[in-house]
Amino acid sequence: MTRSAADFDHLDPAVAARAHDVLRELRAECPVARSTRYGGFHVVTRHEDIATVGRDHARFSARAESIGAATLLPGLETAVAPLFEQDPPEHTEVRRRLAPYFSRAAVARLAPAIRETARSELAGLAPRGGGDLVVEVARRIPPMVIAGVLGVAPPRRALLRDLLIGAVTEGRVVEYLDFLTEEVRLRRAAPGDDPLSAVVADRSVAEPDAVKYLLLMVAAGALTTIDATSSLLWLLSRDPSLADHPREALVDEVVRLEAPVATTARTVRCPTTLNGVELAEGDRLLVAWGSGSRDTEVYPDADAVRPDRAQGAGLAWGAGAHRCLGQHLARLELGVILDEVLAAIPGYRLPDGFEPEWTYGVLRGIRALPATWSYSDPASMSPSTSR
Ligand code: HEM
Repeated sequence: MTRSAADFDHLDPAVAARAHDVLRELRAECPVARSTRYGGFHVVTRHEDIATVGRDHARFSARAESIGAATLLPGLETAVAPLFEQDPPEHTEVRRRLAPYFSRAAVARLAPAIRETARSELAGLAPRGGGDLVVEVARRIPPMVIAGVLGVAPPRRALLRDLLIGAVTEGRVVEYLDFLTEEVRLRRAAPGDDPLSAVVADRSVAEPDAVKYLLLMVAAGALTTIDATSSLLWLLSRDPSLADHPREALVDEVVRLEAPVATTARTVRCPTTLNGVELAEGDRLLVAWGSGSRDTEVYPDADAVRPDRAQGAGLAWGAGAHRCLGQHLARLELGVILDEVLAAIPGYRLPDGFEPEWTYGVLRGIRALPATWSYSDPASMSPSTSR
């Protein structure tokens, strides 16, 4: 066993700073490593094992206690979210109901609204000449997009965003949960044609379960895309020529490299083995999706940014029944955000020698991107004013 395996802690800031080194070591020396943290769990780091856990729902259940992450959600302690925490066959039926909202064609129809959202959120940024791109770009656009997808009324979308960011950055969860509960009630009273109504229209879904579903839907839709935006803007600042690649391929490569969904949990359903390691019923697994997507068994030169790879992002979108439902939306949205950032603040740059502070845990992202850019007032360049 490696030095780090027995006390591996995905939530330790020291792990975040060198996550890829730690995971590389685990893949090489102890691919199904038992950690004693948080009551004990195994962390699964190799591509092949991660794919097995994702696909084999008969042995590995998605109904899992989160490992170590704070779950202080008043009123939701025992709630079970439809879709996210279900296994087939229950999961299959809910997913079938939701699939039409997230198909490639359905998402393509959202493109003009997403572009409009991105433009209006970025309006006014250029003249400022600088700002933190995590705050000014990444946290502004994705919450507004998912709010629209979930049928939140336009005047309430910015409030949802503020409450989400307040909950995540300052732990202000009570107001946020109140907002989500109100949305569930509104949709029950007057269902719309959206992925929240599609779940809450089923009266057998208890309110706490519906609220947890909405909470996870907003997190899945916004927090992931916030982190992906930050990683994308960081990589682009280091190599602006990446912008020459087709958008979908570039997005997939960024998602593969810095998988925004870093880890999720599974519960072992029956005594079994995984890569030679014996597991008991009830054991908890931490599935390190972003470790699988850096496994050199599948991705030669895995640490390099190569948007022309044939394999795409692979496990960074998950595997099996729970593979990302929103991947078409995420790809489209990130491409639009990139286009609009490049139009609004072309040539943005980060300070010389800047190294981002990375997060790792459930999600992988960047805390701050203090950028500057040059700006010329178009009015001052017009013939009438330049005389
Ligand atoms: C770059 C952005 C994104 C990444 C990297 C990502 C990644 C993932 C991964 C790895 C999973 C599987 C988790 C597991 O099996 O435990 C997942 C599931 C899911 N994702 Fe995404 N996701 C992204 C964006 C989105 C967006 C924009 C949505 C829109 C709502 C979304 C909705 C979902 C849903 C609903 C699930 C659960 C599916 C199920 O349980 O059947 N994701 N995602």
